[in-house]
This record gives sequence, structure tokens and C-alpha cells, in this order.
Amino acid sequence: MTELNKIVLKILSSGKGILAADESNGTMTKRLESVNIPSSPENRLLFRETLFSASGMKDFIGGVILYDETINQTSSLKQTIPELISKFGAVPGIKVDTGAKILAGSHEEKITEGLDGLRERLKNYYKLGARFTKWRGVYNISDKYPSKLSVHSNAHALARYSALVQECGMVPIVEPEVLMDGDHSAEICFDKTSEVIQKCFEELIIHKIDLNGIILKPNMILAGTTSDKKISSEEVAKLTLKCLKENVPTDVSGIAFLSGGQTELEATENLNLINKYNDTNFIMTYSYGRALQQSALKFWSKDTNNTTGTQKIFNHRANMCTLAAQGKWSKELEAK
Ligand code: 13P
Repeated sequence: MTELNKIVLKILSSGKGILAADESNGTMTKRLESVNIPSSPENRLLFRETLFSASGMKDFIGGVILYDETINQTSSLKQTIPELISKFGAVPGIKVDTGAKILAGSHEEKITEGLDGLRERLKNYYKLGARFTKWRGVYNISDKYPSKLSVHSNAHALARYSALVQECGMVPIVEPEVLMDGDHSAEICFDKTSEVIQKCFEELIIHKIDLNGIILKPNMILAGTTSDKKISSEEVAKLTLKCLKENVPTDVSGIAFLSGGQTELEATENLNLINKYNDTNFIMTYSYGRALQQSALKFWSKDTNNTTGTQKIFNHRANMCTLAAQGKWSKELEAK
């Protein structure tokens, strides 16, 4: 087993998943302001530290994706944040892209930036304790999108990023997110997601990426948020599995889904069914941001000193997601 594959398995084995706490300051400000908490470095750290020191970290969370601000912060116990995360047996990770910008040549689409100076930034993150990284390419669906230009350029950037990350001894999360926004059907989402994933692997192979040493972070196959042709969880699971079976090389061992705007319950139920029907060798788990943090954030915002109450909610959510990653979740367990 390679060192990179060991990291993948440490993060994703036994139903463990990833806590995506890498919201940029802009996104975190929106999340905090939505619950009437001012967004300061101290408040961002306080909420995140509350989650990172919850007991559920040890049993359910294999990795945490951090944002640049957080990886450089010190916890109230005078440990660095990567030290706090490692103490629970989880692996610290870091978002290394610098965001999605307007794509020249197709102004309604985006290209993710951050390749300039990346090799040096990675060396610094490694020193700070990170052992895996994240880069998100983003694609929207409409009658003309995603364009060939967006599919090609984002795949190329994801592959160049992955090569630099593996060179530095870390595991790249490859995240091509086809957004839920729009009134498209699940079939269209299936076709577009297939095209996007296929192109990513074409580029990853050209860039000589060790596929066993990556984590793929895809979206599930869903009908658009404003579509009137919603599909059941059973269908989501079956279409998602079909898409991944047809387009992901079997050398890949780890897949961790994003929640992408699904509710906590939807993201859990869909993941559970994916695992019930999983007849592949891929590990299929979660790398959720909103679907792990939403309820905890709401509760915390009412009393930011109530660490125990906030952690209880987070522990339950992480527990449910870990059960779903093993196909063992049920509505009865959810209600307990
Ligand atoms: P969501 O689960 O909220 O989609 O966030 C996951 C993520 O890391 C998006 O890049």
C-alpha cells in the first residue's frame, strides 16, 4: 500500500467521513450572519473549535478540511488547530484553491484559480500538519452549460493541482461540483456529471496522478432545485451509483460526496441508500459542509457558550452520516 493510499484509508475507513469546515471568510460570514452572529476571526474560530473538540470527532470524523485562516489559528487550549484535530485521530486537510472566478471566453461560467505559487503554499501547509487538500471546480447546468471550455479547463486545473499535491506527499480531494441550481431533470444531471467526471479522469491520467492516492468528491445525481420532476432517494442512489460505476476508474478507492444544498436528512438518506446498493469496491462516504453543521450552527447561535449542547447536535449528525456511509442508517435511529 502506498503512503498516499494509507492516508485515504485513514480518512475514509469504517464509515468515517470528512467535515468540510473550509468555508472562505466570505462564505462563513454569510453562514454566521444568517443566524445573527457577527463574523469575526474569534467567532469563526469559536464555532469551529466547538465542533473540532466534540467527542464525535474520534468515532465518526476521519478528516477535517480547513480554510487558510483556521489552519493558522491557535485553539483556546493553546494547541494549533491541526494539533487539536490530530489529537482525535482525524487528519487535518486544507482548501488550497483561491476560489472560482469568471471564465474568460464563457462569462456565465467559472474557472477555479490558485495554481500560481501552489507548490510553495503546499510545502507550508504540509509543515503546518495538513496531509490532504481540496480544490473545487464548479459547473452549472443550463441548455448551453457546462460548455466544453468549462469542462476542459476545470479538469485541467484539477489535474495540475493534483500533481503538485501528490508531489508534496499529500492526498488531493478532486471535487468537480455540478450544481443543483436550475430546473433540469435528474437525467440531465446524470449526463452532465458523467461528462465532467470523465474529462477529469482523462486529465488526471495525462498528468500521471496515482488514482489510488486521491479522494473523489462528486455531487449526487439529483433533479435541479426548481425542477418539477423530483426523484425518490432510491432513484438518486441508483443513478449516482450508475454514474460513478461508468465513469470512475477502479483504481480509485475513496469517494466522499458533497451535500451541495441538500438538507441534512436528504444528504443522510441518499448516502445510506447509495451504500445499501453499493456493489463496487469504492468506499462511498461523506465530505459534508452544510449537512454536518447546519443544526449545530443554529443551536450554537442561540447561546455561543453552550459547548456541550452544540457538540451533542454535531455528534448526532456525524453519527447518522457514519451509519449512512455503512448503509446502516434508519429514520428510527435518526429520531433517537
Ligand atoms: P457542502 O456539503 O455544504 O456542499 O460543502 C462541501 C464542500 O466542501 C463544498 O466545496
